[in-house]
Amino acid sequence: LQAQNTMTINADQPRNKISRHIYGQFSEHLGTGVYGGLWVGKDSDIPNTDGFRNDVVEALKELEIPNLRWPGGCFADEYHWRDGIGPQEDRPTRINTHWGMVEEKNEVGTHEFMRLTELLDTEPYISANVGSGTVQEMASWVEYMTYNGTSTLANLRRENGQEKAWEVKFWGIGNESWGCGGNMQADYYADLYRRYATFAKDYSGNELYKIASGFSDDNYDWTETVVKNAGRMMDAISLHYYTIPTGNWGQKGPSMNFEEEMYFSGLRQGLKMDEYVSRHSAIMDQYDPEKRIALAVDEWGIWTDPLPGSNPGFLQQQNSIRDALIASTTLDILNKHSDRVRIANIAQTVNVLQAMILTEGPEMLKTPTYHVFDFYTVHHDAMLLPLHIETEDYSHGGESIPSISATASKDKTGAVHLTVTNLHATEDKEVSLNIRGMDVETAGEGRILTADAVDAVNTFDNPDRVSPGPFDNYTLEGNQLILRLPSKSVIVIRIE
Ligand code: AHR
Repeated sequence: LQAQNTMTINADQPRNKISRHIYGQFSEHLGTGVYGGLWVGKDSDIPNTDGFRNDVVEALKELEIPNLRWPGGCFADEYHWRDGIGPQEDRPTRINTHWGMVEEKNEVGTHEFMRLTELLDTEPYISANVGSGTVQEMASWVEYMTYNGTSTLANLRRENGQEKAWEVKFWGIGNESWGCGGNMQADYYADLYRRYATFAKDYSGNELYKIASGFSDDNYDWTETVVKNAGRMMDAISLHYYTIPTGNWGQKGPSMNFEEEMYFSGLRQGLKMDEYVSRHSAIMDQYDPEKRIALAVDEWGIWTDPLPGSNPGFLQQQNSIRDALIASTTLDILNKHSDRVRIANIAQTVNVLQAMILTEGPEMLKTPTYHVFDFYTVHHDAMLLPLHIETEDYSHGGESIPSISATASKDKTGAVHLTVTNLHATEDKEVSLNIRGMDVETAGEGRILTADAVDAVNTFDNPDRVSPGPFDNYTLEGNQLILRLPSKSVIVIRIE
C-alpha cells in the first residue's frame, strides 16, 4: 500500500453551490419503470398510497430526490396530456411505439404524477411534447397545471380534483428533438424552441425554468446553433450521455456475469462525461460567459444489453458495483462542473437502465447505485471545495484511467463531506488528504460500499450482497486524513 494518491482542499475557499438538482431522477413511461415499478393502482394487493407502491416510495424518499423528470424521454414527444386526465375509465388506450409497442392505458397522468411528487417531496420536471404535439397543446398544459384563477382549463383541473394550481418550475421543450423527438435539424429546432417558449407562460406567480433539447455525446454544432439562436429564451439546454460499456450501441455488453475487461471499459466510458461537459460548456461560454444558462445533463447512466429473456423494448438491466462506481465518478464530474451543470437526471429511477430500485411483483431491492445516491445526499446544495488530486493510474488492456475520484463539499454548518472512489478492480489504495483552511477536530460517520467481485449485483435471493457498511479505516493526524480504500469501493466521510 503506497500513499501515492494525494488530495488537497482549501476548506475556506468554497467555489459555488452544488445544486441539489444535479441529483434528479427520471421516470419515463417505459417498460416497468412507471407501471409495476412505481404505480400498481389503488386496488392492488401491493401496499400503496393512491396507487403508488409504499415500499418504493419509502426507499426513494431517503434519497431526497430534488426533481423527477416525466413522462419521457422519447415517450414525451408522443404523449398528449389530455389522454391522462379525468376518470380512469374514460381514458384512451394508446400504443407506446417507442418502448415495446405496448398498450398505454394512461392510468398515470398529470394528477397521478403530481401526487407522486408530493409523496416523494420532490419537484416535477415536465418534459413537453414538441415532436407530435402543438404549441397550443403545450401552452394549455401549462395553463391547466399552473393557473390559479378562473379559466376553462383551470376549472377543468378543479373538476378533476385539484383545486389549487400546482407549482411547476422545470419545463422541458422537446426531448432529443434531433432524434426520437422529431429528427429535426438544429436551425429548425432553435426556431421551434423560440416559438414554443414564447407561449409557455408564467401564470399566477409560477415561474417556468425552460429547458431546451440539447444533443448527446459530442455533437457540439447543435449546442452552438441552439444557444446562439435561442439562448436568450432558455434557462438551460440539455446534454444526454449514456455510458455504453463496449462503446458499441449494437452490442453494448452485459450488465452481469462479466470480467475485469468489461468493468474497466465501463468505467472508462463513463469518465468521458468530463470531456463532453467541458466542451459543451466551453461553447456555451462563448455566448453566455456569465453562465446564466445551465447545462442540464437530464439523461445519463450506464446502458447495457437487456437482460436475457426480457422484452428488449423495456431496457431492463442488472446493476453492479461497477455501475455504482460509474454513478459516483459521474457525480464527481457533475459536481466539479456545477458552476455550469445545475440540473441532471439519472436514467431511470425504477427497473429501467441504471435504476435505483428493481422490483419483481411485490418484491423490491435497492441497487448498488441507490447506495451511491444515498451517500451523495451530503453534497446537495453544499458548497463545492475544489480538489487538487494526484492519483496513480489504473491500467488495463493498454488503457489507463485514474484510480481515484472524489468530491469535497462544505455544508451550512461548516462540516466538510468527502466522497472518494477507488476505481481499481484489484488494488487497495491509500489516499492522503491535506485539509487547509480549517482546524480539523474529528472525522467520522464514515460509510463504505464495496463488493467481492467486479460484477457483484443484488438479486431478490441475495438483496444485500452489495450494501453499505461502516468505514473506519482511516487515520487523522492534525490536518492530514489518510484513507485506506479497498479495491472497487466508494466511501463517504464527514470532517469537522
Ligand atoms: O432513457 C431511455 C431513452 O434514451 C430516452 O427515452 C431517450 O430520450 C434516450 O434516447
